[in-house]
Amino acid sequence: MISRKRFIRFLGSIPFVGAIGAGYMRFAEPNWYEVTEKTVSIGRFRTPLRVLHLSDFHASESVSLESIEKAIDISLGLGGDIAFLTGDFITGKLSNENEYQRILKKLSSLVRTYACIGNHDGGKWSGLNHGYKDFSKVRTLLEDSGVKLLFNEEERVEVSGKTLSLVGLGDLWSGDTKPKGILNTVRSRDEAVIVLSHNPDSKELLKKYDWDLMCCGHTHGGQFVIPLIGFRPFLPVIDKSFPEGLLSWGKRHVHISRGIGNLHGLRFNCRPEISILNVV
Ligand SMILES: [Fe+2]
Repeated sequence: MISRKRFIRFLGSIPFVGAIGAGYMRFAEPNWYEVTEKTVSIGRFRTPLRVLHLSDFHASESVSLESIEKAIDISLGLGGDIAFLTGDFITGKLSNENEYQRILKKLSSLVRTYACIGNHDGGKWSGLNHGYKDFSKVRTLLEDSGVKLLFNEEERVEVSGKTLSLVGLGDLWSGDTKPKGILNTVRSRDEAVIVLSHNPDSKELLKKYDWDLMCCGHTHGGQFVIPLIGFRPFLPVIDKSFPEGLLSWGKRHVHISRGIGNLHGLRFNCRPEISILNVV
């Protein structure tokens, strides 16, 4: 049986442990990037296409440009053939555009970089949630940074001797995911079709189309994962079975990045992620 003295000592330690935990969630884990490497087989490439997938930078008072630059500096050493940025470049309003451009240019000047828009970047949802009513400012940021934004558009990309069809879609929560006329129900060419779509729930809208791999963000992995049971109380998606990682969906694959930034400056048991996907 625990003694009264021990019990009082335990109670006295709670604020101390709480302060350490809060410090860890605010200052340590959000900047503790994990580099992950996965292989996805879509059967159309003889040699792997090395994709760098980053997402959800969320530049804001909670996520500094310095921390985003640190993530990009780590990414530059990973040797991607092509880079995908899957939305949520900001939270709220954009500031210090010139510095943000300089940081994004470090990536785009080394590797061809494509992006799609997230719900925080501007649009119907963002306009109702302290952000921009349209994504023109983020579009300008990306264009001036050498990042090609695909908004319900396809681009055929030649990379490492391969041609792939790359499709970037608008955001689901803003009602901007419009695949009709962009994706085909039956592909017309023997090329891999890769989709950039911020919110993984958008896969339901893409069910009838012919594609191989979809790269997403949005979930942040939940930002908080309860140890041992793996419960993610703040997962902002309908399909809770797709929180993060590389998942099969029928014959297709979905890759969900936990993202670089966060909301409210906190992460617990859910480190920010820099992903390499070897597409073979
Ligand atoms: Fe996000």
